[in-house]
Amino acid sequence: MRVVLTGAAGFIGSHLAERYITDGHVVLGIDSVLTGSQRNLKTVSSNTRFSFLERDVSGTWDEIERRVSQESIDLVLHFASPASPVDYLAFPIETMLVNSLGTKNAIEFASRRKARFVFASTSETYGDPLEHPQRESYWGNVNPTGPRSCYDESKRFGEALTAAYRRVRGTDTRIIRIFNTYGPRMRRDDGRVVPNFITQALESKPLTIYGDGSQTRSFCYIDDLVEGIVRCAASTELSGKIVNIGNPEEYTIREFAEIVCEIAGVPLEATACQLPVDDPSRRCPDISRAKAILGWQPRVGLREGLGRTLAYFRANP
Ligand SMILES: NC(=O)c1ccc[n+]([C@@H]2O[C@H](COP(=O)([O-])OP(=O)(O)OC[C@H]3O[C@@H](n4cnc5c(N)ncnc54)[C@H](O)[C@@H]3O)[C@@H](O)[C@H]2O)c1
Repeated sequence: MRVVLTGAAGFIGSHLAERYITDGHVVLGIDSVLTGSQRNLKTVSSNTRFSFLERDVSGTWDEIERRVSQESIDLVLHFASPASPVDYLAFPIETMLVNSLGTKNAIEFASRRKARFVFASTSETYGDPLEHPQRESYWGNVNPTGPRSCYDESKRFGEALTAAYRRVRGTDTRIIRIFNTYGPRMRRDDGRVVPNFITQALESKPLTIYGDGSQTRSFCYIDDLVEGIVRCAASTELSGKIVNIGNPEEYTIREFAEIVCEIAGVPLEATACQLPVDDPSRRCPDISRAKAILGWQPRVGLREGLGRTLAYFRANP
């Protein structure tokens, strides 16, 4: 199979590239390295079935088209987009462009080349949810102009565009709503709670807990997410559908901080910080659809996944 993967140099994209290469496929990775790094592609860069193009996918696709003009393309995975709040608050316009124009370019390419298209959406499309846990049928509770809107609303636009291509052009689409994922190759400074807490614990600094720490999150280990994405991309039953991929085990941020410190072998010390604007109070996926259609559910427990992530952070100071 020939795969075009946008966002290949990012956290999730690099793991996906590795998986598709390991499974014997040919991958063209495209990335502007806005928030990612070619270092993430160390394990695949010398493989002859992997090639890389440094490009902004919100701009022209002429060079991408040229690269694969003679080849049939089976699958387009659109994963390019800043994903952490620190990144999308630093690049709000780029974030809106990659999820709108970038998605249009990627799905137009997939549609013309008769390839399957997978859009990496997010649990953020549910906003601060009024339904719990969140099923795919829930429309969400999103502030359309708040600071997070550049991400939430552009992902919602990307979903709507994907649905329109499906309706009008019959493109073979799938939308994956990804919930908090963690693991090796997250950037230390990406501002998300997992690298924040791990870095602070390893440096014996107090953990920064926003609000009173009673807000909940669920954390999916990267290997589980990749397995879910691969199954989703391969499933014919999921064509035209949306699926949540995430770990439904829910922890308060305070409980999570305690587990990180336990694994790092340090006592928990915390400093309280103000809750960010529009921070969701609860977040937990309903994964019944992924279970029923894909036979997928997370396998890696939080302590095991955190142990592996901590080892990565220790080895890559
Ligand atoms: N990590 C999570 O927990 C999570 C949760 C929900 C959704 N997602 C989605 O998964 C995808 C990957 O997230 P991630 O955590 O790997 O983030 P990341 O920032 O590590 O990776 C994103 C990659 O996209 C690239 N990129 C950004 N804009 C680009 C552009 N215009 N053209 C080409 N490349 C561009 C970046 O350079 C980076 O390498 C994103 O679409 C994100 O919205 C991630």
